[in-house]
Amino acid sequence: MKILAVESSCDETAVAIVEDGRRVLSDAVASQIEMHTIYGGVVPEIASRKHLEAICLMADQALEQAGLERRDLDAVACTYAPGLIGAVLVGVNFAKSVAYALNLPLIPVHHIRGHIAANYITHPALEPPFLCLCVSGGNTMIVDVQDYTRMELLGATRDDAAGECFDKVARVLGIGYPGGGPMDRLAQGGDEKKYPLPRSKVDGAPLDMSFSGLKTAALNTIHNASQKGEALDLPSFAASFGQAVSDELVPRVLQAAQMTGRRRIAAAGGVSANSRIRGDLQRMCALHGYELYLPELKLCGDNGAMIGAQGYYEYLAGHVADSTLNGYAGRRIDE
Ligand code: KG4
Repeated sequence: MKILAVESSCDETAVAIVEDGRRVLSDAVASQIEMHTIYGGVVPEIASRKHLEAICLMADQALEQAGLERRDLDAVACTYAPGLIGAVLVGVNFAKSVAYALNLPLIPVHHIRGHIAANYITHPALEPPFLCLCVSGGNTMIVDVQDYTRMELLGATRDDAAGECFDKVARVLGIGYPGGGPMDRLAQGGDEKKYPLPRSKVDGAPLDMSFSGLKTAALNTIHNASQKGEALDLPSFAASFGQAVSDELVPRVLQAAQMTGRRRIAAAGGVSANSRIRGDLQRMCALHGYELYLPELKLCGDNGAMIGAQGYYEYLAGHVADSTLNGYAGRRIDE
C-alpha cells in the first residue's frame, strides 16, 4: 500500500511516499529554518504561508523521486495534531483535497505517533510493545506503545519541552536557531560537571518532568557571568546544560521500564538526535539489559516518512477520516 504522507505542523513542509509502513519511496522536505532564523524562532503566520507556497511542489517532488504517478497512490495521510494550528491546517487541507480529487482514503496521524513510527523505518524488525521517550521542540513525554495504535501516556513535561529549552538557551547565547544541534556540537569536549544546574522532581508524579526551572537557572548563569564581565566556559556550560536535560529524561525512562516491565526502549523526535542523550540511553540500556532503538539522525526531526509509516498502521486499525476532518493545536497521544 503506497501512502502519500504530508507533514506541516511546524517549520518543515514535508511530503513522502511510504510503502506498507516501512519502505520510504521518497521524502521531499522544504525547510523554513533560514526564514525563521531572522526572528530567532518560528513565526506562526510566516510558517503557514511558507507551507502554502511549498506544499504542491513537495508533493510533485515526492511523486517524481518515487517514479510514481498520482494514480499509483492508495491513500493520503497527514499530521492533524498537535502543532502550530495555521501550519497544521495547510497540510490537512491539502491532504483532504488530494483525497477528494483522487478518491482515496484520508488518514489522520498524530504528530508524536509519527515521530515514534520513524523507528519502524530505521529498525524494520521493531514491533510494539515498547517504551518510547518522545522529545521534540514542542513535546516531551514517555509513552507506552502497547500496539501500533494503542498508546498510554506515562509521563510528560509540566511546562517547557526539552527542545524549547535548548532553543531558548541557545538563543540567549547567540549560537543559532534551532539551538539543539549547535548546543550539542558546542558541548563536545566540555566538562559537564562544571556548572551546577537543577534537576526537577514532581511530587506524586515520578515520571512527569519540568524544564522551566532548568531554563531559568541556565539563563541566570549566562546573565550573571555577563554582568560580572566573566567569560563563560562555553563548551562546559553547554555540556552541563545537556547533562541536566539528559538527567531529566533518562532516569525516568529507566523508572518507566521498571514500572511496566518493558524490555524494549525507543526514542523519537528532534531532541533524540542529541549525542549525550543517545549516549546516556545506550549506557543505561546496556547496564540493565534493555534493547534500545534510536531513529537514524535524519529521521529524528520532522519528516513526511514518519507520517506515512504511522499512517499505514492507523489505516490497518480502521482510523480513516471523512471529509469533515479538522486540525488541532493540541491532542493527546492516547485519544
Ligand atoms: O521533532 P522536531 O524536528 O520538531 C518538533 O516536532 O518539535 O524537533 C525540533 C527540536 C528543536 O527544539 C531542536 O533544537 C531540537 O529538536 N534538536 C536538538 C538536536 N537537534 C535538534 N536538541 C538537542 N540536541 C540535538 N542534537
